[in-house]
Amino acid sequence: MTTLTPVLTGNWDQPDSFTRAGYERGGGYKALRKAFGMDPDDIVQAVKDSGLRGRGGAGFPTGMKWGFLPPTSPNPRYLVVNADESEPGTCKDIPLMMANPHVLVEGTIISSYAIRSNIAFIYVRGEVLHVIRRLHQAVAEAYEAGYLGKDILGSGYDLDIVVHSGAGAYICGEETALLDSLEGFRGWPRLKPPFPAVAGLYGGPTVINNVESIASVPSIVGNGPEWFAAMGTEKSQGFGIFSLSGHVTRPGQYEAPLGITLRELLDMAGGIREGHRLKFWTPGGSSTPIFTDEHLDVPLDFESVGAAGSMLGTRALQIFDETTCVVRAVLRWSEFYAHESCGKCTPCREGTYWYKLMLKRLEAGQGTEEDLETLLDISDNILGRAFCALGDGATSPVVSSIKLFRDEYLQHFERGACPFDPAESTLWGGAK
Ligand SMILES: Cc1cc2nc3c(=O)[nH]c(=O)nc-3n(C[C@H](O)[C@H](O)[C@H](O)COP(=O)(O)O)c2cc1C
Ligand code: SF4
Repeated sequence: MTTLTPVLTGNWDQPDSFTRAGYERGGGYKALRKAFGMDPDDIVQAVKDSGLRGRGGAGFPTGMKWGFLPPTSPNPRYLVVNADESEPGTCKDIPLMMANPHVLVEGTIISSYAIRSNIAFIYVRGEVLHVIRRLHQAVAEAYEAGYLGKDILGSGYDLDIVVHSGAGAYICGEETALLDSLEGFRGWPRLKPPFPAVAGLYGGPTVINNVESIASVPSIVGNGPEWFAAMGTEKSQGFGIFSLSGHVTRPGQYEAPLGITLRELLDMAGGIREGHRLKFWTPGGSSTPIFTDEHLDVPLDFESVGAAGSMLGTRALQIFDETTCVVRAVLRWSEFYAHESCGKCTPCREGTYWYKLMLKRLEAGQGTEEDLETLLDISDNILGRAFCALGDGATSPVVSSIKLFRDEYLQHFERGACPFDPAESTLWGGAK
């Protein structure tokens, strides 16, 4: 059986895990000293060799992304940490920053040094004021210790970190919309190319990485890329935080090698809540096609989840038992997408609006079987045709639920009402 690999979460049970003193007691900031003894290009190579792939959802190789920066440029180059975490079900970066903010600060310093940037931004979801305060505190402590500012630890390297509060919209987590928002504009996705590596923040070469990706860098530098690559699977190396939520006995963050299965994670989490059974789940947040109990043994790595018809995404495992109406769950997610669609492109703006209206009707038992074909038709018009990945993500729960639970949709029309008792489910606030 695969066991847990607590690296980023290793100190969470310490009462002072979020302080510099607490972090340093566990070996924190040692990797920074090691990094300053290395050539920046060797750090980029180490991250490439480790096999680290972006932990923000898409799984793009982190070292390769860093390697796309042009060797010279008239503009300053920037590191931007994406801490906007807003995907339904995704809840790993916020607890990580709350419990262990210094691992992100240390990762930001090493990564900035590696890409030769002298200013880094951490764009944090604006609603999580407690996390923003904690990051400000951690950054202030790092300045006090001489880990930030001018001539860090006598290395001749200068770096400032700016903690920036996000604008309160899911779309601001999309990397190019985030850049617009950081520049003070409304967060709208930008046309690519040019990619941020070439023309990003203020037109300068920019690396954008997820919190967990950057927080993984100190352990890679400290322990070596082979140590990291020895965990996980051949093409999905290392560890990741798996967030179990919903109808599970012990919900929470489980840091484990990529390739672990939901069955193994559920064993550690005490199983589905007592007296109930697994009905459906998301492997990586609401933007990833749902799975059922047939997928309990799918290795949770990028390739295996893809081959089984979904995406690893952010490893946000939302677990639903047999008391949950799948139509209702999909309606709730679709309401979210319709609300968060930025409106820039027609397929997503119109499609998510119609999803919401039609699913509302279907859930109330007022729809027809033809509506299911219309929903699939709308999905065809969004998928691959929307301007950014929000639109594609919105189609995932709709299409996968119709594929896996068509009969449950039909039961709604046949009864003329939802066949589930919402009071039975502890999710979605109970009553309708
Ligand atoms: C609508 C939308 C929201 C997103 N939100 C986030 C987010 O909150 N955090 C994040 O790291 N990536 C988010 N992403 C993915 C980013 O665009 C980008 O791929 C990621 O920050 C890259 O980091 P990584 O390579 O380290 O994974 C979002 C994408 C979309 C389309
Ligand atoms: S897909 Fe949706 S969120 Fe993305 S640009 Fe189009 S309208 Fe905006």
